[in-house]
Amino acid sequence: MDSKLMAATAAAMVASGKGLLAADESSATVAKRFAGVNVENTEANRRTYRDLLFTTPGIGSHISGVILFDETIRQSSLAGKPFPALLESQGIIPGIKVDGGAKDYAGHPGEQVTEGLDGLRGRLAEYFKLGARFAKWRAVINVGRDIPSSGCIEANAHALARYSALCQEASIVPIIEPEVLIDGDHTIERCHEVSEAVLRATFQACYGQRVSAEHLILKASMVISGKSCATQAPEEQVADMTVECLKRAVPAALPGVVFLSGGQSDEKAAAHLSLMNSRHAGRLPWPLTFSYSRALHQAALKAWSGREGNVQAAQGVFAHRARMCSLASQGRYTAVEERTAG
Ligand code: 13P
Repeated sequence: MDSKLMAATAAAMVASGKGLLAADESSATVAKRFAGVNVENTEANRRTYRDLLFTTPGIGSHISGVILFDETIRQSSLAGKPFPALLESQGIIPGIKVDGGAKDYAGHPGEQVTEGLDGLRGRLAEYFKLGARFAKWRAVINVGRDIPSSGCIEANAHALARYSALCQEASIVPIIEPEVLIDGDHTIERCHEVSEAVLRATFQACYGQRVSAEHLILKASMVISGKSCATQAPEEQVADMTVECLKRAVPAALPGVVFLSGGQSDEKAAAHLSLMNSRHAGRLPWPLTFSYSRALHQAALKAWSGREGNVQAAQGVFAHRARMCSLASQGRYTAVEERTAG
């Protein structure tokens, strides 16, 4: 275990004005995203699309790290450079999604538990050799009438902690992502209650598994109204309740907290993050930044739509979103900036 390396990696991941790009969609998830823009889900197209993102000029100023999928970390750019080396050449740290996906949780209808611990030690050693310096594991928590159950929260917390301990043994910084889903008609208060319980259980499990908080990054979902809740909480409330929840349940020793976008619009994902940073400036124990997938690159995917002639325009769209997210991580995102190109 190289604690110095992990401390340096974690600090670089959440360096001021920077955040992460989650480009770790499994091939099944890419199929869904590509179907929306009529692009065939082939290995070649996935490579071409990731190439478009990773070769966007200047992206290293706003993106500190990219979370890759197993297929992508082994692929090379269209110019023939392995993707991890291409990212490193722009000062971007390669990361890797290592979980095996959320599966139906036995005996618990409507709930899921994430698989992937078997053989993880060997896979981490290989990913380190391929250049990965951080990893991600996502747990999924559904909110409904009688869920989440304590069994679901605990099973996922345990897996996140076991995964984290294995990552740290391999000198890879673990990102733990216990995602409380936005789907449902629950209120923001209910989301707060569930998020706090999930975070408390997750960090208790990490403590129990001897995970070092100093070398651990949390990828959190925001405290937000359910997508189909009749009353949608205003942006300021989302920012304040998210910060309150994190302060209650997340150890101050963590080097940083990053957020997923979780189905929020691009603008909302940027506005919420920005308000957390502007309204709570100077009173946060950790840097708060982004680790978005959809809110960083779904607009670029649409602009590309599989056509070579659209690559430059799509890169412009991606660069703009990256800049907006960077501003948000500094509490400086505004509607005026949103409308200002380049
Ligand atoms: P979204 O930002 O699209 O929610 O994706 C983030 C992520 O990595 C989910 O695991």
